[in-house]
Amino acid sequence: LITPVILSGGSGTRLWPLSRSRKPKQLLALTGERTMLQMTAERCADRARFGPSIIVTNALHAAEIAAQLRHDRPAAIILEPAGRNTAPAIALAALESAPDAPLLVMPSDHVIEDVAAFHAAIAAAMPLVRDGWLVTFGITPDTPETGYGYIRRGAAIAPGVQKVDAFVEKPDLDRARAYLAEGNYSWNGGIFLFRADAYLAALDRFEPEMLAAVRASLAEAARDGSMVIPAAEAFLSARSESIDYAVMEKADRVAVVPVEMGWSDVGSWDALHLLGLPDEQGNVVQGDVVSIDTSGCLIRSEGPVVTTAGISDLIVVATRDAVMILPRGSSQEVKKIVEALKARG
Ligand code: GDD
Ligand code: MG
Repeated sequence: LITPVILSGGSGTRLWPLSRSRKPKQLLALTGERTMLQMTAERCADRARFGPSIIVTNALHAAEIAAQLRHDRPAAIILEPAGRNTAPAIALAALESAPDAPLLVMPSDHVIEDVAAFHAAIAAAMPLVRDGWLVTFGITPDTPETGYGYIRRGAAIAPGVQKVDAFVEKPDLDRARAYLAEGNYSWNGGIFLFRADAYLAALDRFEPEMLAAVRASLAEAARDGSMVIPAAEAFLSARSESIDYAVMEKADRVAVVPVEMGWSDVGSWDALHLLGLPDEQGNVVQGDVVSIDTSGCLIRSEGPVVTTAGISDLIVVATRDAVMILPRGSSQEVKKIVEALKARG
C-alpha cells in the first residue's frame, strides 16, 4: 500500500483576504464544500491502494487539521515547531515510515479534477518506485510561469514514464520562455512518489546534516496518540530548503509521469476564477452576492452582502474585516497588498 504524505505548511498569502496565517489556503473551502486539505485526503481514500496518511504541518494548525481529518484517521500528524520547508518535512514522514514504504508526497492545497487520471499515473510509476526511482508528475506548461519547477523529459523507461534529463526549480523568465519554446519540458506538479529509503538515501548524499538534524528531532520526539512532536531544537537546526532544490535538481534516478489531470495549484484569485463554474454572464459568485449588469467577475463574500452594478472583469472579495477589489489578470498584486499591510503594522 502507498502511504500518502500530505504537506500542510504553507501560509498562502496570495489568496488574501481569505487566507490568513491562522487559516491558510489548505484549511479553506475554495472550490466547494470541502477544504483543500480534505479534498487532498479524499483523493487517497481508496483503501485498496492507499494506507493511512501522514500529515506534516505547523504545530499552530494541529487542532484544526485533526478536526478536518477526524474521519480519515491519519497514521500520524507530525507537528513542526516552525517550517523548515519541504525537504525536512518530507524527511520527518520518511523516517516515520517503513524503509520500503512507497510515499506519495502531496501538497495540501492543489486541485486535481481528474482523480482517475491521477491514479493511473501513480500506477504507471509504481514499478520504477519499487526499483528505487524518485518519481514526479509532469504538467503540460502553457505559460512561462517562473514559480514552478521545469522538467526536461528524456528517454521513455516504462509505459507512460520518462527519465528526467534535467530538473530546474523556478527558472528566470528568459529560461522559462526558452523551455516552453523547446517543447520537451513539463512543469513539476509538486507531487512526488518514492520509497522512503530512496528519499532518505538521496538526502543523506546531498544534505547529510539536514537529515541528521531531522533524525535527532525524532529520536527525542514527544508522542501523543497519532500526534508526533519532534524535538524543537534539533528540528530547527535543520537547514531550510525545498525538496526541489535539495534533492530533485541533483539526484540521478529521477523519472517523470506526464499526466493531464486538471491540475491547478490555485496560486491566485485568477486561478480560482478559472476553476469556478461561471454563470451566463461569466461571473463566478460565492456567498451572499447581488449583481446587476455585471460580467466576467469573481465575487466572493464570507459574510456581508456584496452588491455590484455595471462592472466587468473584476475580482471582489469580502470577508468580515476586509474587502479587496482588483482587475482580473492582476491577482499577483495581492502580494504587494499583503506587504503594504505588513509595513503599516
Ligand atoms: N509541513 C510543511 N512544512 N509543509 C510545507 C512547508 C514546511 O515547512 N513548506 C511548504 N510546505 C507545503 C506547502 O503548504 C505546499 O502544500 C507544498 O509544501 C509546496 O510548497 P510551496 O511553498 O507551495 O512550493 P512552491 O509552490 O513554491 O513550489 C513547488 O510546487 C510547484 C507546483 O505548485 C515546487 O515543487 C515546484 O517545483 C512546483 O512546480
Ligand atoms: Mg505552491
